[in-house]
Amino acid sequence: MANDSIIADISLAEYGRRELDIAETEMPGLMATREEYGAAKPLKGARIAGCLHMTIQTAALIETLTALGAEVRWASCNIYSTQDHAAAAIAATGVPVFAKKGETLAEYWEYVDHIFQWEGEPCNLILDDGGDATMYVIWGARIEAGEDMPAPTNEEEEEMQKVLKKRLAASPGFFTRLRDNIKGVSEETTTGVLRLYGLAKEGKLPFPAINVNDSVTKSKFDNKYGCKESLVDGIRRGTDVMMAGKLAVVAGYGDVGKGSAASLRGAGARVMVTEIDPICALQAAMDGFAVTTMEEAAPVADIFVTTTGNKDVITIEHMRAMKDMAIVGNIGHFDNEIQVGALKNLETIEVKPQVDMYTFPDGHRILLLSQGRLLNLGNATGHPSFVMSASFTNQVLAQIELWTKSDEYKNQVYVLPKHLDEKVARLHLEKLNVKLSTLTEEQASYIGVPLEGPFKADEYRY
Ligand code: NAI
Repeated sequence: MANDSIIADISLAEYGRRELDIAETEMPGLMATREEYGAAKPLKGARIAGCLHMTIQTAALIETLTALGAEVRWASCNIYSTQDHAAAAIAATGVPVFAKKGETLAEYWEYVDHIFQWEGEPCNLILDDGGDATMYVIWGARIEAGEDMPAPTNEEEEEMQKVLKKRLAASPGFFTRLRDNIKGVSEETTTGVLRLYGLAKEGKLPFPAINVNDSVTKSKFDNKYGCKESLVDGIRRGTDVMMAGKLAVVAGYGDVGKGSAASLRGAGARVMVTEIDPICALQAAMDGFAVTTMEEAAPVADIFVTTTGNKDVITIEHMRAMKDMAIVGNIGHFDNEIQVGALKNLETIEVKPQVDMYTFPDGHRILLLSQGRLLNLGNATGHPSFVMSASFTNQVLAQIELWTKSDEYKNQVYVLPKHLDEKVARLHLEKLNVKLSTLTEEQASYIGVPLEGPFKADEYRY
């Protein structure tokens, strides 16, 4: 197929390749997967539409999928998360990429549309992060079946509907054919998984889905240890603020919240947490964090980070109450955690891309990072390669499952079996010089597990 990529600058390809070469040395899971399956090419015939932050680490994922025989078209799942040199390195290999750092929302949805434009047979698998690509196909097919499009509730949906309408008019029946050809989707993140479970509950999921997020080697590592490194990285690159001694608030103490609170504490900040779940609130308190409400925290804290996957967590009233030069950002999937729209009538200065200063009528200012979109990818480069190797090894295994065993899956949401989860972890031990102990037969039978694992029951929480 002709390479119809839309990227910022193809001359960045060599720089991207140099960083990709380094990333590969930190991604033992992905490299072992290439080694194990490369010759058999289990993804031969798979045509994957990918929608996930187009970073260097994702470039390594794409090259693993193609090494296993897949054809791929790719877009980012966020307007700020693309690394242009990574996009260039992949486009230079002939894989079509549609992603530019700082693309508009209109471009974003056009790029999502582009990943579904294949010559000949449509694509047959989706690899998604946040659910936008999946929802695009599902909504298109529902409208073709006679459903009305719901009125858009925000700019995101408005732009999506414009692109969708254009495609519906240009290619009648396109989405129905596409939906019926898709063997499944593997979903990367908490927010996307929530959307999939919602569809499955209503009986409206049209193909099987694998929830990659809830592999233990994904959410208990990427969401936690990944954010532990990339949250502070984003705040520093955005603001260069002195972190030690500052009072920071983390909204939400799930996996991302735990990593984020640890990140800020590691940088010397004093950290408070807000939660709505008594279990997570108790965990935060017993991890040594003050747990309070956003109303109490707003006037006193210096740095605010939302990690909830929920909406309206920092409201305009909270921002009105903040101190001069408070830093506000989000690391959850969507920007609606912060009421960014309510700031639009304020005096604004773009300090630099992805850092904006707003002045309230009383004169106090706030710094907003990445317009409320995930700041670790908008202001920095996301999680390090090593942890993404674990996430993406799960993605590759999920794609192999969906492609080679599609008959075994119903239109439901599945997690990968525990033996694969343990396999992903195992692939990452040697790089860290981990010496694993081995059970004796007596010990295995005493605790009631097979010698070779799985070592825990499905209910175990890690
Ligand atoms: P989670 O479900 O483990 O944690 C979210 C926590 O927020 C829960 O404990 C919940 O009780 C709490 N919460 C909900 N509403 C709240 C409110 N109004 N105030 C205070 N707390 C509230 O989810 P997880 O895995 O931590 O993911 C959170 C978000 O981060 C999701 O949108 C996910 O997609 C995204 N994510 C972002 C990553 C990144 O690199 N930026 C990486 C992984 C996930």
